[in-house]
Amino acid sequence: MRRYHVTTFGCQMNAHDSERIKGLLEELGLGEAPSQEEADVLVFNTCTIREKPDTRLAAHLARAAAQKRQRPDTVIAVGGCYAEAQRERLFSLYPEVDVAFGPGTIAHLGEWLGAGGFGVPRGRFGTGDERRFAATLPTHRERPFQAWVQISMGCNSTCAYCIVPRVRGREVSRRPGDVLAEITRLADEGVREVTLLGQNVNSWGRDLLPEIRTDFGELLRAVDAIDGIERIRFTSPHPKDFRRPVIEAMAECDAVCEHAHLPLQSGSTRILKAMRRTYSRERYLRLVEEMRAAIPDLALTTDLIVGFPGETEDDFRETLEVVEEVGFDGAFTFVYSPRAGTEAAAMPDQVPDEVKRDRIERLVEVVQRVAAERNAQRVGRVEQVLVEGPSRTDPTLLRGRTRRNTTVNFTGDAAPGELVDVLIERSTSTTLGGSQVAVAVA
Ligand code: 5AD
Ligand code: SF4
Repeated sequence: MRRYHVTTFGCQMNAHDSERIKGLLEELGLGEAPSQEEADVLVFNTCTIREKPDTRLAAHLARAAAQKRQRPDTVIAVGGCYAEAQRERLFSLYPEVDVAFGPGTIAHLGEWLGAGGFGVPRGRFGTGDERRFAATLPTHRERPFQAWVQISMGCNSTCAYCIVPRVRGREVSRRPGDVLAEITRLADEGVREVTLLGQNVNSWGRDLLPEIRTDFGELLRAVDAIDGIERIRFTSPHPKDFRRPVIEAMAECDAVCEHAHLPLQSGSTRILKAMRRTYSRERYLRLVEEMRAAIPDLALTTDLIVGFPGETEDDFRETLEVVEEVGFDGAFTFVYSPRAGTEAAAMPDQVPDEVKRDRIERLVEVVQRVAAERNAQRVGRVEQVLVEGPSRTDPTLLRGRTRRNTTVNFTGDAAPGELVDVLIERSTSTTLGGSQVAVAVA
């Protein structure tokens, strides 16, 4: 049997898309190989959000090319956002690539392989009508009790630093009936936790007007009503679209977890404006206040960028201040990386690398201290944990996540997929530790 291997870069949407790629290849009769070296079909599902994933991909493709020189019938496929961004030059940059596709044209891989399409390199890309929801393809889920659910594709925002709208196209929402039918099916198959995915997940539904009048809050309520779904997560929301109905749905739906990943990007209103984020520092802080008032014990995580063009030391200090003021439970921190074709890449006042490095170090320090303080407050409490498997560092322990999305390593005897109560006894800036006290009543 021919075997495939998929390497995934980037965000949760790519993790979702890779499960569809696997499902597609399995439908064509291929089996999964445990490593790239043992596979005949090598798929790279790429990311281009910053320069770093581009460089990592180059290293992977060099290895793949060497493998192909030894075994010429090896097929190399490159999909995802980098492929889409480089559609004009991909085959000349990497002559070893046989087939390429963008994030919206995954089915092309199946068509090409299914037609026995060797020989001429082939690609299909697109950010318009030719896109299809990956959600309509077969799937191979990593865990039987958790699932990604794509609710929209593309993004209509115009953040000055971001390449995503260019590679994923304009936002299109999946119809509520399709989303709910998929989740009902998943629940019947034993899925207990779903993560709703969209590049801008909470603006879902707006483009369905005038035919369908709905919003993300209504979708949360409908998913909450599906029997068997005990946890609902979603990512990533945009602060500008976090309106009252969404907050109310979060507060009122039992299955919706007490966690929001709310990308702030910068704590300086001046920089936020240059980034075209459409909110100010004050408005973000008001939103946090409103959310915390409505949803007790809410966990908040965020994304932060340092070194956006024109960022001064004072702007940067404002980011540090907001991290302290909000008290984020965790944050992804990024050094601004200019992306060709974005508005910010052409801005004057690019920040020197050494300044960016200094700022990211200082930011990480504050983020870790604040997160450690937040996690320390969990010690002594009992948290409901969905067991995911053995701990990554100590196989005698179990690992799972709380409703607030913190990883817990703990002693216990539960099986993956079970909901258990865990007494929290230890904490670090990123994890909790404890012991199972009982099987939780869901
Ligand atoms: N440089 C650095 N970070 C970026 N992000 C998006 N574009 C860039 C860029 N050009 C970050 C943002 C976003 C996260 C997914 O990646 O913080 O929320
Ligand atoms: Fe990377 Fe953004 Fe594409 Fe996700 S959507 S894979 S983060 S470029």
